[in-house]
Amino acid sequence: MKLKNKLLDQLRKEALYDPVDLKKEWGEDFYECIRDIAEHPVVLRMKLYPHHGHTNCYEHCLHVAYYNYVVCRYFHLDARSAARGGMLHDLFLYDWHTHAQKTGERFHGIHHPKHAYRHAKKFFNLNPIEEDIILAHMWPVTVLKVPRTKEGWITTLTDKYCGALETGQGRS
Ligand SMILES: [Fe+2]
Ligand SMILES: [Fe+2]
Repeated sequence: MKLKNKLLDQLRKEALYDPVDLKKEWGEDFYECIRDIAEHPVVLRMKLYPHHGHTNCYEHCLHVAYYNYVVCRYFHLDARSAARGGMLHDLFLYDWHTHAQKTGERFHGIHHPKHAYRHAKKFFNLNPIEEDIILAHMWPVTVLKVPRTKEGWITTLTDKYCGALETGQGRS
C-alpha cells in the first residue's frame, strides 16, 4: 500500500506529466493494472540500473506505462495491456552504459527488446499486445520488427517521448 501511494504521488507531482490532466481515478486504475508487475522483485531490480539522465530503468518503464495507459484509454484501445507492456518493455536487467564493455554484446538498441521479452515471459503471462509492445518498441531501430498492434505503435512514440524528456532533465 505504501509503495502504491508513493508511486501515485510521484506520478501526480512530476512535471513530466503536466501536459496530461491526470484524473485521480485514472491514476488509481492505472496502478491496479500494473500492481503485480510494479511490485514484483525482478521488476524492482530495474531500479538498480541507470537509464536516461537521472532516471533509472524502473522509473522510465513506469513513465512509458503511464503514458501508454492514458493515450490508449483516451482512444478506447487496450489500456491495461498497454500499461503492462510498457512496464515490462525494458526489463533487460543490466546497465546498458557498460554492457558492451562487460559482455562484448554490442548494439544494445537492437538486442535489448529480446532480453526484456525473455525475462518478462519467464515471470508473467503475456498476451499478444504485451508481447508486441516489448518486442517492437525500438522500431525503427529494429528495422524488421515492425509493431503489429496499435498499442505497439503508440509505445514506439511514448518510449521515445519519455526518453527524450528524461534525458533532457539530467545527464545523458
Ligand atoms: Fe527499450
Ligand atoms: Fe524504453
